[in-house]
Amino acid sequence: MIFLTGAAGFIGANFVHHWLGQKDEPVLVLDALTYAGNLESLAPVASDPRYHFAQLDICDRPAVTALLTTHRPRALLHFAAESHVDRSIHGPGDFIRTNVQGTFELLEAIRAYWAGLPAPEKAAFRFLHVSTDEVYGSLSPTDPAFTETTPYAPNSPYSASKAASDHLVRAWHHTYGLPVLTTNCSNNYGPYQFPEKLIPLMIHNALAGKPLPVYGDGQNVRDWLYVQDHCRAIARVLEAGRLGETYNVGGCNEVKNLDVVHTLCDLLDQLRPKMDGSSYRAQITFVADRPGHDRRYAIDARKIERELGWTPQETFATGLRKTVQWYLDNPDWVEHVTSGAYRQWVGKQYGAAA
Ligand code: NAD
Ligand code: TYD
Repeated sequence: MIFLTGAAGFIGANFVHHWLGQKDEPVLVLDALTYAGNLESLAPVASDPRYHFAQLDICDRPAVTALLTTHRPRALLHFAAESHVDRSIHGPGDFIRTNVQGTFELLEAIRAYWAGLPAPEKAAFRFLHVSTDEVYGSLSPTDPAFTETTPYAPNSPYSASKAASDHLVRAWHHTYGLPVLTTNCSNNYGPYQFPEKLIPLMIHNALAGKPLPVYGDGQNVRDWLYVQDHCRAIARVLEAGRLGETYNVGGCNEVKNLDVVHTLCDLLDQLRPKMDGSSYRAQITFVADRPGHDRRYAIDARKIERELGWTPQETFATGLRKTVQWYLDNPDWVEHVTSGAYRQWVGKQYGAAA
């Protein structure tokens, strides 16, 4: 069994679908179900005997320890985090609590569990920490892409809290010998992403006839990766990554925000044309810039390609089309997330979890 924290969120839920689609090995999902955790994203596997769920906060070390003792996983994949930069600017406290304190509590629970395993299981155990390229800070237009040796220079409360968690994970390896792996990935997009991140927000607002708010001049660059490609990378690092190493994961898809929004509008014009024949581009509105807005992220993913043979399968064009189609096909998921109705669904489905 593998143990996943935060897998009721965007990437973790996609990972569960990826894993159960490929392997027989069961998964145990631990998630506190914050605003970003949504059991509807896991509904397709809810009755799968290989799927187990526990509503729990990673800061609750005794409860995490009890789960470990009961289920005896062979690996932990740590997805749980507060993940939205804008929320971290508005209220950084939750980011310090979950991303820093929570990662510490988890490392300590895992260290005690791992220390008590019989030698063969101890040698095979893995703690895989899922992190971000934002720990490296911001690039100018001419800087080379981030490599695994780029110095850390986080700029937002979110990226600073993730950088702190990366350092804790590294230290637990060097000090205690904990068998850790870290991935630092670029911006993901795809199904089940909460509609306050750029791509799902723009799709949602476009369809709702609302403004499409582009921060600043819209020239900030992100390196977009389709979420299933990220999930394949994580599975590959878990399988064959070298202990204590970090792996950068990215799509080689640097796109300016305004170009992302234009492409989304053009896709929607094709797939869901407006009744009055006008383009969704007319809804684009330039708004005030994000404080401390990182200008450019770009990932050099040659290490994971060279060592583990991973490359992305989706281009931005194919991945974005799939993503727009998924949001068009799943209006209920979006409606429930935005209205809070999914909490009621959770209540019905899982009793106390509402
Ligand atoms: P998300 O916000 O969609 O999901 C986070 C999940 O963690 C939610 O289900 C939430 O309920 C859970 N959670 C939050 N606090 C918790 C706590 N204290 N205890 C237990 N569960 C808790 O995030 P995501 O986009 O799926 O990101 C997953 C991981 O990947 C994060 O660690 C993030 O830093 C990292 N990452 C994300 C991206 C991206 O583009 N989304 C890119 C690179 C790395
Ligand atoms: P976001 O999805 O929040 O990811 P991150 O900040 O982690 O990169 O934002 C992606 C980019 O889009 C970022 O440069 C900020 C910008 N953005 C907008 O212009 N408008 C929006 O409404 C949002 C949410 C983001």
